[in-house]
Amino acid sequence: MIKAILFDMDGVLIDSEEYISEAAIAYFASIGVTVKAEDFIPFVGAGEDRYIGGVAEKYGIKLDIEQAKLDTYDIYEQLIMGKESALVGVVRFLTNAHEAGMLMAVATSADRRKMEINLEVMGLDPKWFKVLVNGKDLERKKPFPDIYIKAANDMGVENGECIVFEDATNGVQAAKAAGSLCGGITTSFSEEQLRAVGADFIIGGLDDFEDFSSISEFNRLLLRFKAREIASQVRLNAYTPYSHFQVGAAVVSASTGSVYRGCNVENSSYGATICAERGAMMEAVASEGDFRIDMVVVVSDDDPPAPPCALCLQVMAEFAKSDTEVFLYDTEGKGRQFRFDELLPHPFIFPTQRHRHS
Ligand code: THU
Repeated sequence: MIKAILFDMDGVLIDSEEYISEAAIAYFASIGVTVKAEDFIPFVGAGEDRYIGGVAEKYGIKLDIEQAKLDTYDIYEQLIMGKESALVGVVRFLTNAHEAGMLMAVATSADRRKMEINLEVMGLDPKWFKVLVNGKDLERKKPFPDIYIKAANDMGVENGECIVFEDATNGVQAAKAAGSLCGGITTSFSEEQLRAVGADFIIGGLDDFEDFSSISEFNRLLLRFKAREIASQVRLNAYTPYSHFQVGAAVVSASTGSVYRGCNVENSSYGATICAERGAMMEAVASEGDFRIDMVVVVSDDDPPAPPCALCLQVMAEFAKSDTEVFLYDTEGKGRQFRFDELLPHPFIFPTQRHRHS
């Protein structure tokens, strides 16, 4: 069960890059040095010391870096205050999480001052966050896991009970090395880059979350994202030389919470083709024996995304309940949701097996 959410800040909660670069340029101008926006690019994400310090070095200037940062943050505050800079859906997501009773922390490599300005700009009450960890609190920066280990520790939870939201590959590595679940957000890096360093699922932003009002509802949304990720990945292995129509399925076991996967496998003798959904259910039985389905997620490149065929539904009837949730997604993540009995209202169930469904 995930009880706590750890947020990276820039690129996850707020888009502040444009303002901090404008503030830093204005700071250098105030000490009589003209610098360009491009000068900062090599130092983005490297912590504020390098952001200002790296550019000062380039121009051969010696700075009191602590004072330079404070002056830059003053300018930054003036520039960003009153701007709609929270990323779409962030305030809604945080309100849901707060009201659901999730523990929350911000764990950022940025300085405390910038973190405080950002929370204020977004209109977020710092008290919603049980813990605020910033770059100054730790020697070893991301991709080392230290910041996420400290955040979990300070909150009194295990890293395995936390989900981390990150937009940077260094941050995903830090989260995974700490032993947390990690949702990758594609603000700054591509889906493939975030996946390659171990993100458990990928979303465009926190706005991809539907509303939730309890910790268990939030965990269910996470489970769905994980199952969708597994189904989309296994879909790429589908053997489809005839139809070229690839399908990936993930079946979540109600008994163990394990996620089983399947892809369609076609055959020269067309009728010997096996669908993704049945493949996933066969894997579940092979691993667990008789089992119960908690959730099914199917991914296909179709509009609207394809439902399981009638053969697969008939097999599903053996292991599902009438209200089992079936989620169908296209490859872009657009989805629709059904109860099992909407898809197959009248399954054939052998008389001796009917008790399983009552
Ligand atoms: N297919 C599935 O994998 N699942 C379904 O429920 C519908 C159809 C596959 C089978 C075949 O490889 C291809 O889609 C075209 O029929």
